[in-house]
Amino acid sequence: MTNNLWYKNAVFYEISVRAFKDSNGDGRGDLRGLTEKLDYLQTLGVDCIWLMPIYPSPLRDDGYDIADYYSVDPAYGSLDQLKVLIEAAHQRDIRIIMDLVLNHTSDAHPWFQAARSDRNSPYRDYYVWSDTDQIYKDARIIFVDTEKSNWTWDEQAGQFFWHRFYSTQPDLNFDNPKVREEMLNVARFWLDLGIDGFRADAVPYLIEREGTNCENLPETHAYLKQLRVFMDEHYPGRILLCEANQGPEDVRPYFGDGDEFHMGFHFPIMPRIYMAIKKERYEDMAEIMRRTPSIPENCQWCTFLRNHDELTLEMVTEEERQWMWKEYAPEPRMKLNLGIRRRLAPLLDNDRRKIELANSLLFTLSGAPIIYYGDEIGMGDNLDLFDRNGVRTPMQWDSSPNAGFSVETPFTELVKGDLGYRHVNVASQLSDPDSLFHTIQKMIALRKNHAAFGGSDMQWVETGNPAAAVYLREHDGDIMLIFNNLSGTLQHVDVPVQYQTACIDLFTGQSLFLNTTLEIGPYSYFWMQIQK
Ligand code: NOJ
Repeated sequence: MTNNLWYKNAVFYEISVRAFKDSNGDGRGDLRGLTEKLDYLQTLGVDCIWLMPIYPSPLRDDGYDIADYYSVDPAYGSLDQLKVLIEAAHQRDIRIIMDLVLNHTSDAHPWFQAARSDRNSPYRDYYVWSDTDQIYKDARIIFVDTEKSNWTWDEQAGQFFWHRFYSTQPDLNFDNPKVREEMLNVARFWLDLGIDGFRADAVPYLIEREGTNCENLPETHAYLKQLRVFMDEHYPGRILLCEANQGPEDVRPYFGDGDEFHMGFHFPIMPRIYMAIKKERYEDMAEIMRRTPSIPENCQWCTFLRNHDELTLEMVTEEERQWMWKEYAPEPRMKLNLGIRRRLAPLLDNDRRKIELANSLLFTLSGAPIIYYGDEIGMGDNLDLFDRNGVRTPMQWDSSPNAGFSVETPFTELVKGDLGYRHVNVASQLSDPDSLFHTIQKMIALRKNHAAFGGSDMQWVETGNPAAAVYLREHDGDIMLIFNNLSGTLQHVDVPVQYQTACIDLFTGQSLFLNTTLEIGPYSYFWMQIQK
């Protein structure tokens, strides 16, 4: 595993360890359980696993509220078991990155406990305190359904503390050099253990300044560059993936001159994929991709259809948001904050054609794709569960009791109904050559075998048909012409004259000649390699 640019054409897979596989019968998934399932992930073909937080935590934000940065929550296992997992993954050519939560700790963290109980504690200045809640008023509230303010009064401290997320997650003070150093030490600890990099959580919010919206500030970038220098110096080949839920223009600086983040999520393209499939037109996707600045050669975007959070609608207009809610969240309980708390399959009416089409877009648009565990089999969600827990239910391994996830009653309710484990599970899809799993497996294999997808640019091809998303991917001499029919009806696409040429249909392996018109079935897609 020596290629330092491995991430550019890698396929990622996001896992909630608690929900993946229980090995010791306590009803909660753990590292050993995940290790047992590496063969499955290898069969699927993923290159890198992203582990959601596994640190000790009161779980007020499912582990994004960390109480100790230097150990694994015993519910998941031990540091030794993590090492075993990393080694077993590496033997299969699979890398592992984990969440690095820089912006905030849990209020149960000893630093915060010391800080709140003593004004003179060296830890007081680890957090952001104020006598008034009237400063930084221009910073928006992110968890609008639960938080009224970014300031919370702390009785014990006799001051307000600053938090961009839940009031149980006080923000660290990145103006304090000690905090900056602490977090480099945290990174060092996990890198020394063998982890291949980090998905850096909530990075736009590290620094606050009066008169700004307290996001994406230059001082924040300066610190992140310092983190990168440290990684490059000691851990070449390991990566930093940026979670900045921002427009493409604002994410672009996180790549710096190729000296800040290796990768960054492309948030705005995600809701536009759903818009495209419902509106049967590609224009909104094309518009945002045209607006997306090019990035340095050693960087890559990360694309996704779903993740462990609500499907965020922060990066669309108010009008588009209302439209998305109307179309995709018909029941009020499907809404959460500025988003929709549903999984991929139920969002797309469990329509196999639409699910495949969405994946065709995911795997061929520019960027490295991330699959959210369970979406490769089209598992469902459970709207009875609170907040985002509805999309973090146990992986559906087979049709035995508890979904083959655990011999005991799982930590949470499973998915009910048609998309529950009796109907949708790994075992049945592995044995069915026509299953969604096998289609996704094929898409992954094709993508990985073609250099064209490893670039970060794409070019839209105008065919005069608004329902046909057609674009060119070209990299290292490999040229791919992608056709997606976003509509539920047969479409005829005029092929521009320069592409009326010999090509190979990647899914059938057949050589053919692209004629003046291409016929594409409802919600169908073609990945054509141009022969030159
Ligand atoms: C982003 C994470 O994806 C989300 O789950 C979490 O609640 C916030 N950051 C706060 O850490």
